[in-house]
Amino acid sequence: MLNDRMQKELNEHINAEFWSAYLYLSMSVWFAGKNLHGFANWMYVQFQEEQAHALKLLKYVQDRGGSVELKPIAEVPAGWKSPSDAFLHTLHHEQKVTSLINALMGTAVELKDYATQNLLGWFINEQIEEEATATEIYRTLSDVESKPGILRMVDKEFKARAYMPE
Ligand code: FEO
Repeated sequence: MLNDRMQKELNEHINAEFWSAYLYLSMSVWFAGKNLHGFANWMYVQFQEEQAHALKLLKYVQDRGGSVELKPIAEVPAGWKSPSDAFLHTLHHEQKVTSLINALMGTAVELKDYATQNLLGWFINEQIEEEATATEIYRTLSDVESKPGILRMVDKEFKARAYMPE
């Protein structure tokens, strides 16, 4: 059985993961509007991954006999200055998510909730990858953004990204 405090914090994080999904869906729509359909695809896959993160937590709360509370998803931004700006936002957002997961782990450690610590270990590893990817793309775009031909090449490359369920 889940501790009440742990359950409350996990429910808050389910909402944060759905908010992340909504943010990346908004970025996907924005990129499509800029005729950058590879970037739009990349962000759509990100949207799918974030939904999977939320559902992974949701199932865990259910498996531990807890109650899932689905709260409203707050409004997300709808526009960015440039592709690199969108990826800088992505990086800052993922850094924030990392701090939220670290705080959850802090609670799980304090409560000696070993099962939740085990689950959160997966998320901690995932955040290393999320931050590294966002950093790499942001740096690349900062270098090539002023060269439309290269931006188009990156866009073409991003069309190949596909969602891979765990
Ligand atoms: Fe699920 Fe990108 O954090």
